[in-house]
Amino acid sequence: MKGKPAGNTFVEVELEPGKNYFWCACGHSKTQPFCDGTHQEVNYSLVDAMTQGKYKPVRVKSEKAEKVKFCLCKQTKTPPYCDDSHENL
Ligand code: FES
Repeated sequence: MKGKPAGNTFVEVELEPGKNYFWCACGHSKTQPFCDGTHQEVNYSLVDAMTQGKYKPVRVKSEKAEKVKFCLCKQTKTPPYCDDSHENL
């Protein structure tokens, strides 16, 4: 299940080596592209028992300083990274 689009493209983020990042998969976080814990409320509010607990953030930890493109449209097939799926929205 894909998340709610939080934007129409991607956002570039400069990762610090050894630091953990948690990419928001549900699209409801107010601190995009990062998780703020809102997915727990979203999961809880889902009526369909088959989908409860479906959303969870994706952890990223880089060993080196690097710039990455985090998906904002939440339709990527390579989460948390942009795969240009936003071009098909
Ligand atoms: S707030 Fe979206 S995955 Fe946590």
